[in-house]
Amino acid sequence: MTPDLSGRSFLKVIDYEPFELRHLLDRAGTLKTDKSAGTERRMLSGKNIALIFEKTSTRTRAAFEVAAYDQGAHVTYLDPSGSQMGHKESTADTARVLGRMYDAIEYRGSAQSNVETLAEYAGVPVYNGLTNEWHPTQMLADFLTMDEHSGKPLRETTFAFLGDGRYNMGRSLLVMGALMGCDVRMIGPADLAPPADVIAIAEGIATQTGARITITDDPQAVAGADFIHTDVWVSMGEPKDVWLSRVDELRAYQVNGELMAATGNDDVLFMHCLPAFHDSNTVLGGEIMGETAMQDGLEVTHDVFESSSSIVFDQAENRMHTIKAVLVETLG
Ligand code: CP
Ligand code: NVA
Repeated sequence: MTPDLSGRSFLKVIDYEPFELRHLLDRAGTLKTDKSAGTERRMLSGKNIALIFEKTSTRTRAAFEVAAYDQGAHVTYLDPSGSQMGHKESTADTARVLGRMYDAIEYRGSAQSNVETLAEYAGVPVYNGLTNEWHPTQMLADFLTMDEHSGKPLRETTFAFLGDGRYNMGRSLLVMGALMGCDVRMIGPADLAPPADVIAIAEGIATQTGARITITDDPQAVAGADFIHTDVWVSMGEPKDVWLSRVDELRAYQVNGELMAATGNDDVLFMHCLPAFHDSNTVLGGEIMGETAMQDGLEVTHDVFESSSSIVFDQAENRMHTIKAVLVETLG
């Protein structure tokens, strides 16, 4: 059955059925092939899309813009200083204004409740480009990438996430893994584990999809994993002064050669939503690595990041193809 997603918002993956997510992944695969073959058809000519970014972005903004342009749509980028939203105008009022001018709205910001309010009032599809709680467009890219590299169905695929499970990436990988029927290992200190309500949602989904879910503080739980995921140890919006204590807490969960070997799988692949602190060539990365004597990298070592096991740039490219699938399916 081909799902009809026209007019739908994409606010979090748990709003979608597994077959609808599968359809978006398949559509992204086709769009990717069409683009490289030069046979892509424009399905969004005349559409206008507002891109609201209250937090910084490289991939998500670029992916939305290129996907829209490839499909013939136009975009307006609104940054925090360039719009009234939140400062002088409520989210509900902004939604109703933009909904009169645009065919769809993307929003990146802090609270999930903001993007939910936008969707409630806009009258047009709203896409979550990352909130503190969820990162749904990243999930499509991650699962398309695992699909492309795995050589087996997602329901037979095992992946581990190491790090801060409380934020958008950890939470999203947990529930998306449950939806797609994977063997999911969430690994990190207990106080950085995904919240109990999110674990309960994932476990409920797993009873329907056959997913296997492990939540543990033991890094050895990577045994048998096909893919190892991690994320920055301090997320956007968290205060900078938590860095040193966070590094102490997560040091044992760094993705390094030893951790990759602990999977027992010579073909294990490394994934990261990016940006990553794997060397000191960034202002913040250099500062934190200097202060913590972690010269090889923070959440991932430079060796692993640059190794042939790392598929992070395939993953980054897939942001564009998967976001294009969302646009085409909901607006086309
Ligand atoms: N992965 C991701 O969302 O990247 P950006 O913050 O650059 O958009
Ligand atoms: N957890 C990270 C993801 C960045 C794409 C953050 O929110 O900063």
